[in-house]
Amino acid sequence: MRNLNKSGQNLVSNTSNSFSTKHMLIIGDALEVLKDRDLLPKESINLIVTSPPYGLGKDYGDTFRDDFNLSKWTEMVEKVGVEAHTILKSNGSFFFNVSPIPDKKTSEIVPLDSYAYMALKKCGFQLRNKIMWRFHNMQNCTKRLSGRWEAILWFVKDLEKYVFNLDAIRVPYLTNDSRITGTGRNPTDVWFFHRINNMTKNKLGIDHPCVYPEDMIMRIVKMSSNPGDLILDPFVGSGTTMRVARMLNRNSIGIEINPKYEKLVRKRVEPEQTTLSSRCMFEVIRA
Ligand SMILES: C[S@@+](CC[C@H](N)C(=O)[O-])C[C@H]1O[C@@H](n2cnc3c(N)ncnc32)[C@H](O)[C@@H]1O
Repeated sequence: MRNLNKSGQNLVSNTSNSFSTKHMLIIGDALEVLKDRDLLPKESINLIVTSPPYGLGKDYGDTFRDDFNLSKWTEMVEKVGVEAHTILKSNGSFFFNVSPIPDKKTSEIVPLDSYAYMALKKCGFQLRNKIMWRFHNMQNCTKRLSGRWEAILWFVKDLEKYVFNLDAIRVPYLTNDSRITGTGRNPTDVWFFHRINNMTKNKLGIDHPCVYPEDMIMRIVKMSSNPGDLILDPFVGSGTTMRVARMLNRNSIGIEINPKYEKLVRKRVEPEQTTLSSRCMFEVIRA
């Protein structure tokens, strides 16, 4: 692997004034890249947001097969967790989005979030909230209740000390009572965000099978990081986490195994219009 020390350090410290933010896409296997301490030094990342492959046989291109084997999947999550714990700052957070999935042979539901919880707990993480992400418009089932949520496990390293900007994510009150004087209510641990369906993807020109809703990642980034911070998504896919980081003046690193998404990520991260204040640096590294 190329020696990435300089570029990694630059991104981590973000001392240059010439770009408002810096973004590095690493094309490679997250399980290898996450171990590289030149690139990802110990305690260098403020926030990790990710959604790994669920093993549902999605078509992510030829680079790897999204096949499912529960023990291998759990092993993979634990390997990611060990490295994530090492590179995350002591007041950092790790958001791990995963869904219950039907077993391909028996159709029994496998609660992947429970397995992920056990695996990440072993790595030293502590659960702050299990967020239920609700949505409409998914497959309608006839032999069981239709699935309409995914889990977002919010882990911290230290329950006594972590970034939580509640005021940045308050939502309107449920009633118009004039006695209420605050600036909005806590959004709670049940969130509703529309999924990005194929129509939206086509409209936005995003050729990727599962894209995060931008507004959901915005809530996470606002609540658990500050401008200038460094955010990592080890399974970055179409680049939503990096795009949101750029929009909210944070720096980002994304790891993606499939080189075919490089163009898409670049298109989504680089600003539509290069004004001085929105100039960002986008770098691609092949691990
Ligand atoms: C669930 S998708 C993430 C989608 C992303 N949240 C977005 O908004 O586009 C998972 C991504 O992880 C990538 N991937 C799978 N295994 C990987 C690995 N070992 N290292 C890095 N990326 C991997 C897949 O190619 C896929 O793009």
